[in-house]
Amino acid sequence: MTGQPGVRAVSRRGLLAGGALAAGGALAGGAVVVAGRDGPTGGPTAPQPSPVAAVGGMVEPFHGPRQAGVATEPQAHAAFVAFTLRPGTDRAALGRLLRLLSDDAARLTQGRPALADTEAELGLLPARLTVTFGFGPGLYRAAGVDDRRPASVADLPALRIDRLQPAWSGGDLLVQICADDAVTVAHAQRVLVKDSRPFATVRWVQQGFRRSPGVEPAGHTQRNLFGQLDGTANPRPGVALDTAVWVPDGPDWLRDSTTLVVRRISMNLETWDLLGRTDRELAVGRRLDTGAPLTGTGEHDEPDFAAVGDDGLTVIPDFSHLTRARVTDDRLKILRRPYNYDGVPSPQGHADSGLIFASYQADVTAQFLPIQRRLADRDLLNEWTTPIGSAVFAVPPGCPPDGWIGQQVLG
Ligand code: HEM
Repeated sequence: MTGQPGVRAVSRRGLLAGGALAAGGALAGGAVVVAGRDGPTGGPTAPQPSPVAAVGGMVEPFHGPRQAGVATEPQAHAAFVAFTLRPGTDRAALGRLLRLLSDDAARLTQGRPALADTEAELGLLPARLTVTFGFGPGLYRAAGVDDRRPASVADLPALRIDRLQPAWSGGDLLVQICADDAVTVAHAQRVLVKDSRPFATVRWVQQGFRRSPGVEPAGHTQRNLFGQLDGTANPRPGVALDTAVWVPDGPDWLRDSTTLVVRRISMNLETWDLLGRTDRELAVGRRLDTGAPLTGTGEHDEPDFAAVGDDGLTVIPDFSHLTRARVTDDRLKILRRPYNYDGVPSPQGHADSGLIFASYQADVTAQFLPIQRRLADRDLLNEWTTPIGSAVFAVPPGCPPDGWIGQQVLG
């Protein structure tokens, strides 16, 4: 289900004892259904209490030098909630807000209800809940600490492919909520939004999904709504991911931070559906079934961009998404952590589907932007995709158990 180091399970005993966590060695992966076994006389036993289900009880750490929800194996459900700060929310008020939200996140991610949680029972199954905080340019301005804004955290330059809508763009504060259960995400969203009310208004919410845990064997690459394997060439956990994502040094408000670009990209399923399979594969440069590059047979085979077919053309087209997005230097890669979205179809039955494209990188200007510019310039996928929202956030370092997210920036 998850190979994440540090993931553990809430034991049933822990939950019954008021939500306190049992220490390591709890029920990870040990959930079994016991009801229905025969009793000693051969008759059915009385119903047995069922153990905490494996998925619901899984816990991701909240405290640590880096925020969770970035390198974390992506959970099935996400809500990206962007806020606009109310006028007068200054540095001191932001400190109060972030202390409160950090406390909510610290509790809920560990399977404990938030303080004064009005639906306490909904806080008991974390299902690998992570809450990740992002700071937009406006937050630094409001707090009077613009000198601590990472330089690349700013609106992206206008791109000719953009059809951006204010309804999906910008934001002073972002809360990225992810879990393997939609009810857990909804409850965390409710708590965090409620506690933010005196300080901020909701600017936009984007809810997305990926494959649910247990649907595929662990380690499978997810599919987007074009049916493509999406995530194959991501930097692998370890040195490659760390190099691409985390700022390795600098002052304490910068070290162990990263940046997040969120782009809402509408995918035109109606026109995509008109394409034959070969054209679909040429647009990306990979096969639909295996995800292999058009010059290979396995998903992780290295693409051969020089290979030429019988028709004298390169097998992987120069304008394919794969060719245009390709980066080989680990320091210039980005970590993509996208979610599918699927809204209400139009009365005519046209889908409102797409990708909440979310990428983490140490520096937006050096890593994300060159890729995005090459794609905007000429990527065959642009024919069927349209960016309709865009926002950039700094993801400040994590915090210890007696700290709060943002303390290095605002302290
Ligand atoms: C709806 C929009 C998009 C779709 C459907 C899409 C789909 C895909 C697919 C199917 C792959 C190949 C498999 C993989 O390595 O994951 C891929 C690779 C990639 N995409 Fe996208 N993508 C989209 C937007 C973007 C954007 C906006 C960026 C960055 C600005 C981006 C950057 C990349 C990168 C860096 C790769 C890996 C390239 C390599 O092999 O080195 N994609 N994408």
